Amino acid sequence: MRKFVPAFALAALSLATGSQLVLAHEDHVVTHDPLVEARKGGMTMMVPTLTAVGRAAEGEGSVARAAFPASGLASFARSLPALFGPDTDGTTGSAALPAIWEDEAGFAAQVAEFQSATAALEAAARADDRESFTAALDRTKASCQSCHEAYRAE
Ligand code: HEC
Repeated sequence: MRKFVPAFALAALSLATGSQLVLAHEDHVVTHDPLVEARKGGMTMMVPTLTAVGRAAEGEGSVARAAFPASGLASFARSLPALFGPDTDGTTGSAALPAIWEDEAGFAAQVAEFQSATAALEAAARADDRESFTAALDRTKASCQSCHEAYRAE
């Protein structure tokens, strides 16, 4: 049973990205800090949410149905500064690297790009603008990967 969720997360993610990006962790280690749980839970829930958003990009139809899940991504993105407070540095079971707090400006830039990409995704879905939507979806996925490369442990 414990293996089921991570396997699903990985499958969902490869569906969402259509590439070999591996963003999900094999082991969802439980921590004792509610803020760390909030960010890990939110990150995990972004995987199926991104899959739902990606489905709207398939085919030629309206992308407006992606507005609801995209709004969740944009909202979670706006919460990230609070979820990565300095008190959470070094929490056992967290994969967040110390670089997040050592290189505050670098991490803030990653958060800003993710906020901007997800806001653009939500706006494009609401406007039913497929071209902008596809571009914002690519930008959002690139932002996940770029932040993980720099600030998340393998
Ligand atoms: C601004 C940086 C940043 C962005 C953007 C970002 N992540 Fe993360 N992500 C992290 C960090 C740091 C961790 C490790 C958190 C921890 O263990 O405390 C993480 C962890 C995760 C995890 C593992 C959660 C767990 O239970 O251990 C998944 C899955 C994940 N991210 C998916 C995503 C997806 C999908 C996106 C894009 C839609 C994304 N992330 C965007 C920084 C980011």
